[in-house]
Amino acid sequence: MRTQVAIVGAGPSGLLLGQLLHKAGVDAVVLERQSGEYVLGRIRAGVLEQVCVDLLDEAGIGARMHREGLVHDGFEILAGGERQRVDLNALTGGKSVLVYGQTELTRDLMEARADAGLATVYEAEGVAVHGFDGARPYVTYRAAGQERRLDCDFVAGCDGFHGVCRASVPKGAIVEYEKLYPFGWLGLLADTPPVSDELIYVNSPRGFALCSMRSRTRSRYYLQVPLSGSVDAWTDDAFWEELRLRLDAPARARLVTGPALEKSIAPLRSFVAEPLRFGRLFLAGDAGHIVPPTGAKGLNLAATDVKFLAAALIEFYRERSEAGLEHYSARCLRRVWRAERFSWWFTMLTHRFPDDGPIAAKFQHAELDYLLNSEAGLRTIAENYVGLPLDFGAA
Ligand code: APR
Ligand code: PHB
Repeated sequence: MRTQVAIVGAGPSGLLLGQLLHKAGVDAVVLERQSGEYVLGRIRAGVLEQVCVDLLDEAGIGARMHREGLVHDGFEILAGGERQRVDLNALTGGKSVLVYGQTELTRDLMEARADAGLATVYEAEGVAVHGFDGARPYVTYRAAGQERRLDCDFVAGCDGFHGVCRASVPKGAIVEYEKLYPFGWLGLLADTPPVSDELIYVNSPRGFALCSMRSRTRSRYYLQVPLSGSVDAWTDDAFWEELRLRLDAPARARLVTGPALEKSIAPLRSFVAEPLRFGRLFLAGDAGHIVPPTGAKGLNLAATDVKFLAAALIEFYRERSEAGLEHYSARCLRRVWRAERFSWWFTMLTHRFPDDGPIAAKFQHAELDYLLNSEAGLRTIAENYVGLPLDFGAA
């Protein structure tokens, strides 16, 4: 089989890239290790920046997102027992974010791909990428018990943090920056009305918590938990009880509990690979970088990588120009590092670090006290939260 772009991974990055290329008449095949149901079973964040919303519109898959997504003009931070609203709209000259689950977005992209009759190979085993340092890369894999080979012009590594593409780059050609945090997030999804109309990020003496949502009838909550624990140790009742202890009285009074539809623990990590291009192999999304979920930047960063990659590939086919491909890595990394910094900083500001002494909690409290009572401080949080501009001008 032959295609122009072989896309490894059918998460949001791979599917969105496929859709944008298809709209521009560039041919791509998507290879995914898991089944479609498995991909849709993963619960991830769901706060979209305007840049991401615009891109999904451009890809022609925004209709349900606009119908069902919730526009959020602000969010709250609960710290030291007090709540402070970050008025995104007022602080950023009218910007907002859209709450729409990554699962739903993935479903929309999958359906668009199926409706257009585009090739996606699910349950592709043993995917391996070859020859990307030359002009004729190809990908091998097994599907339905048969060995297959896909020849292509380019390989897009959209295969997430544990994927095969980044792992195939020779060690000397890549630098990896990584920070692991000494805790995880225990998430619970429930068909109960959210505790508030807006998200609440909670810094409590018992650890961080987040009250989020998927719709007006479906809530998503998170608790900072030690990495040593297992999800099985958390009954639904234990989760709700711990959440209550981290909230303030008004939120406790409004909290509606119910059986968990999903419960899982995710570690927190900051990670960046440099560069994001190796000859004819390009990394996009989680394959190239990971942020801790505080601030919900992961999906948004993936979307902007894909925007730049799609534009560069389309330019290559339309104009025979490699300019966009050459700038891809540097262009993405500048934005990636800004979001990495914000996610790290917002995590440091809101979580309890088990090895830090009492003075660290005092510093954190004082920093929040300053930020949340200063127009400049609030603006700093707000403009990062709604998303920085796509390009920042001269470096
Ligand atoms: N062969 C084929 N597919 C693979 C392989 C492989 N060897 N390894 C991984 N994959 C698939 C995974 O099964 C997954 O479906 O690649 C896909 C990668 O999807 P994601 O992990 O969702 O990554 P990405 O599409 O970049 O999405 C980024 O997801 O994790 C969040 O915070 C992140 O919201 C952001 C978004
Ligand atoms: C979520 O709803 O899953 C969510 C929202 C905001 C975050 C992280 C996760 O910062």
